[in-house]
Amino acid sequence: MTTSPRKLFVTTALPYANAGFHIGHMMEYIQADIWVRYQRMQGHEVNFVCADDTHGAPIMIAADKAGLSPQQFVAHIAAGRAQYLNGFHISFDNWHSTDAPENHALAQQIYRDLKKAGLIASRTIEQFFDPEKNMFLPDRYIKGECPNCHAKDQYGDNCEVCGKVYSPTDLINPYSALSGAKPELKNSEHFFFTLSDPRCVAFLNTWITQSGLQSEVANKVREWLAPGDDGKPKLGDWDISRDAPYFGIEIPDLPEGTPKKYFYVWLDAPVGYLASLQNLLVKRGVDYAQYMADAALEQYHFIGKDIITFHTLFWPAMLHFSGRKVPNNVFVHGFLTVNNGEKMSKSRKTGLDPLKYLDLKMNPQWLRYYLAAKLNAKNEDIEFSAEDFMLRVNSDLIGKYVNLASRAAPFVHKYFGGALDANEVAVKGGGPLEWSNFNIQISDAYNAREYGKAVRLTMAFIDQVNEYFDSQKPWNLAKTVDTDAAQKAQLHQVVSRCLIAFWRVSICLKPILPALVAQVEALFETPDLQWADFDGSAGRFPTRIQPYQHLMQRVDIKQLEALFEPPAHVEPAQPAIETVAPQDPGGEPIAPTISIDDFAKIDLRIAKIVNCEPVQGSTKLLRLTLDVGEAEMRNVFSGIASAYQPQDLIGKHTVMVANLAPRKMKFGISQGMVLAASHGDEKANPGIYVLEPGTGALPGMRVR
Ligand code: 2FM
Ligand code: ZN
Repeated sequence: MTTSPRKLFVTTALPYANAGFHIGHMMEYIQADIWVRYQRMQGHEVNFVCADDTHGAPIMIAADKAGLSPQQFVAHIAAGRAQYLNGFHISFDNWHSTDAPENHALAQQIYRDLKKAGLIASRTIEQFFDPEKNMFLPDRYIKGECPNCHAKDQYGDNCEVCGKVYSPTDLINPYSALSGAKPELKNSEHFFFTLSDPRCVAFLNTWITQSGLQSEVANKVREWLAPGDDGKPKLGDWDISRDAPYFGIEIPDLPEGTPKKYFYVWLDAPVGYLASLQNLLVKRGVDYAQYMADAALEQYHFIGKDIITFHTLFWPAMLHFSGRKVPNNVFVHGFLTVNNGEKMSKSRKTGLDPLKYLDLKMNPQWLRYYLAAKLNAKNEDIEFSAEDFMLRVNSDLIGKYVNLASRAAPFVHKYFGGALDANEVAVKGGGPLEWSNFNIQISDAYNAREYGKAVRLTMAFIDQVNEYFDSQKPWNLAKTVDTDAAQKAQLHQVVSRCLIAFWRVSICLKPILPALVAQVEALFETPDLQWADFDGSAGRFPTRIQPYQHLMQRVDIKQLEALFEPPAHVEPAQPAIETVAPQDPGGEPIAPTISIDDFAKIDLRIAKIVNCEPVQGSTKLLRLTLDVGEAEMRNVFSGIASAYQPQDLIGKHTVMVANLAPRKMKFGISQGMVLAASHGDEKANPGIYVLEPGTGALPGMRVR
């Protein structure tokens, strides 16, 4: 079935190393992982890599707020990646970092090559400067009104609403997102990749056609390349440099005595694809240059629709004009919306938290199956609906597919010692359940990323198998097996046919359900199933089965309810204080009087929240790392998860009870307590407010 093995280099977009993953990340990884697993099952050689996108001003600023160096900050984020990737069975061959030495070297070399090609220009530009923070403002820290669609509060580099790419000075009524100050224009020398060069435009027009981009993507890209009113492409030259302070890769070969400059994060981010691959190949003892030089190598990037420009204009042009291999294609997907149609943005709160999903012991393969059933090759948004999720998993995946095995397998053990009917094995599953070229259609659908179609075709076949099973009534045939040899033979044929069909269906679902199909492989004693096993062309076919053990649980509605359980409160509109009697301020009477000595026993200190993160397995608690001016940080659990996003607390000062006896909790030891205000009647007046001291209070200062 397979021709000569393809050589594939596949990536997903590199996530910013500033937070854990949201469900949108997981969807992209699952989409790419299904494709990669399918290709591996075809016998193709795949290197599937990703990395943390570590550079840029936002990460530098977040690290500073957390009291960490950018390197410490991104290392902390990197340490949290495996739980998601393993949790959802994402089979990356390598996970690396754009701050790794390979990336520094590659980015600098690509820049030098582009310079040699005459595509780097330097110009003095006027740039926004924050007079309060005393720094040039990164694009992302200038906000204002989009000059194109007039959406408010858009970032300085591109509009999230209409997708327009522009420069910050195009924004209407700009303001500094760091200080709120009105930014001033100042001069600075910047470097540009001259994309408006006719060579770039000509190359990109050719590449768009050759790459087979999705038509809706290609149309968009052609628009960007088309000449504007002035005859030049709408797409201007690309500013690739940033002034210090910046967390990034230094621009090499600057004249001595001039200030340091850094590559804009989007210059070195995609280079991170190559750096991760190089790192993987070196670990395997493979020569990177030789690997890349192979004309048969195919390079594919899975990305979201918000980063098309970077991947279809800047990136292919950077690669081509630095003398490197260009992507064969860029596969663009839409966003995942959850029930109410809200975009699962990278920066906003999401309704489906991947870690909470795993904590609730929800099977990751349910989500893989559900997303596969909904995904196609277009960059359309898809919607997660809890009802639909439960229906598809419980009725289709379990009710039709898993149950087929659980209904048929016990007969084989009870009456035939685990052996499948030899005749059926010889004809590789016959009768009404012959597959003809069904698997080829499914295979084509996977290759074209039409997973929804692959699932539909598979389920349609499973329906046929179940109908056949029911029509043959094996439970009736079983009644007379001891006395009627013909009935016994028929029973053997029916259940063997159904199980062979089940085994084949499992091959078709393996890219989506790797762990479940690993159990099927054990059940049939056919390890490591490949696509070629389907028709026995790989030289093996199941002949017997092990005793059946249940393969998968159903989704319990309680799990879904818990998954979407809203936080205990949403920002209260107006506290309903009028319902409270005047003698009960804040909803409860003042406590009995104590002496000043009683109060002095409580040692209250100023604490800086240097880190804050969710607590796995708890929806109420946040884990705080507090600097109280001691040699060691304190670990404190606080029941404020309903009121705060962890990242919003990092860097703040608060007040803590520093001499409270340490308390052993399920999640670890809590070494104190932070002070927060809340109303006595939390239901009527929700809200928790962590205390903050006045400006200037330092960690360790006592509160008297
Ligand atoms: O949009 C993002 O999340 C970027 N960090 C994606 C980078 S993709 C690649 F270029 F590295
Ligand atoms: Zn806009």
